[in-house]
Amino acid sequence: MVSGAKNSALKLMAASLLAEGRTVLANVPRIADVFTMTDVLRHVGASVDFLGDVMAIEVPGQLNSEAPYELVHRMRASVNVLGPLLARQGHARVAMPGGCNIGSRPLDLHEEALGRMGASFHFDHGYLEGVTSGLTGRRIVLEFPSRGATENVLTAATLARGRTVIDNAAREPDIVDLARFLCQMGAQVSGAGTSTIEIEGVEAMTPATYRVPSDPIEAGSLALAALATRGEVELLGARAAELDVFLSKLAASGARWRSTVAGVEVGIDHRPNAVDFATLPYPGFPTDLQAQMIAYLCTADGTSIVTENVFESRFAHVAELGRMGADVRVEGHQAVVRGVPRLEGAPVTAHDLRGGVALVIAALGAEGDSVVHDIHHVERGYEDLPDKLRRLGAEVEAEVEAWSDAVDPSFDPL
Ligand code: EPZ
Repeated sequence: MVSGAKNSALKLMAASLLAEGRTVLANVPRIADVFTMTDVLRHVGASVDFLGDVMAIEVPGQLNSEAPYELVHRMRASVNVLGPLLARQGHARVAMPGGCNIGSRPLDLHEEALGRMGASFHFDHGYLEGVTSGLTGRRIVLEFPSRGATENVLTAATLARGRTVIDNAAREPDIVDLARFLCQMGAQVSGAGTSTIEIEGVEAMTPATYRVPSDPIEAGSLALAALATRGEVELLGARAAELDVFLSKLAASGARWRSTVAGVEVGIDHRPNAVDFATLPYPGFPTDLQAQMIAYLCTADGTSIVTENVFESRFAHVAELGRMGADVRVEGHQAVVRGVPRLEGAPVTAHDLRGGVALVIAALGAEGDSVVHDIHHVERGYEDLPDKLRRLGAEVEAEVEAWSDAVDPSFDPL
């Protein structure tokens, strides 16, 4: 069963701050990033109970308006509280996330768009501080369809005066979910999932109950894990429509896939063909599956050209794959993957979340044992990965502290 989507859950949690009272989210994955967002919500004054996959968030009338460095540097998605805090409190102080292992990732688009809506920003000792005496709806044209900027403008606009129109908005499924959730809270949003989103501001929002949908990136990663071992898997809960381009690339590699009543089934029983692909914002090939797809193509028949268009340096996994015998060369924002017949197990190190899971995928298909170090990167986004892989027939041992501490240390029973 594919778990709830990390990148939806985090946004819904941040958006819960828009309404005073008790929001309940179901199918929330128990992963490290969700616990970091739990800490962010607690820091601004909400109380959070998380039992099984159900999370209850109690939001008070008054919030603190700071997301501190200790939390933002653990997870960039902490900046998703910027829109809700500005809208509700008229003030937000969010630590600058800085660079990370996949690129520089600035906040200029967030700042510019919210600035047009009437917030003024300044930098203060590593923090971006925004104040407003009331946000006003505007037409915002994003220079790039940034997911984070789209989300912060969308949440802020729900409580702004008048109508906001976001052009060149991100179209990812998590934006559609966020908009649905906001509408359940009483917002007036239309067009989510297209490049133009319209929001008519309302006076106040009310808490809602919402189920987090399944994680398309986890589904894609598990599909590639099965294909790397020349096996097959049915991904229960996966939705093919969210993975169109990815699935068509799998088909081009010689894999078979079909939608089933319960999800999506994929399989392959021979060496894959080489396939070229380029990452792009949704509905293009997701950058969040680039590393895993490279791991799969390392043993393809022929040479694949991979172009990374979303982040400038998302290839940290390539050198590690080389330690397993892969022949991959990075030139600028392209990787040239020359398929080799097989990979060999080796000690390797994860440098980021998706690159880390790519190493796990490569290790599953490799001959002999591999040890993936710094697996904490992978725990950020994959719930019970060792268990899921064992259920698919893999032999996996996780270090004692790995995954077990993806259980909230400050867990409060309901
Ligand atoms: C989201 O990050 C995802 N994170 C990322 O998933 C994903 O890789 C990324 O979108 C792209 O799809 C979450 O949803 C929590 P962006 P986000 O703003 O919102 C540039 C994973 O593995 N940019 O769409 O931060 C930026 O540098 C993660 O689960 C600016 O230049 O991404 C990047 O090159 C990691 N200025 C591009 O836009 C800005 O103000 C896309 O960024 C904002 C972004």
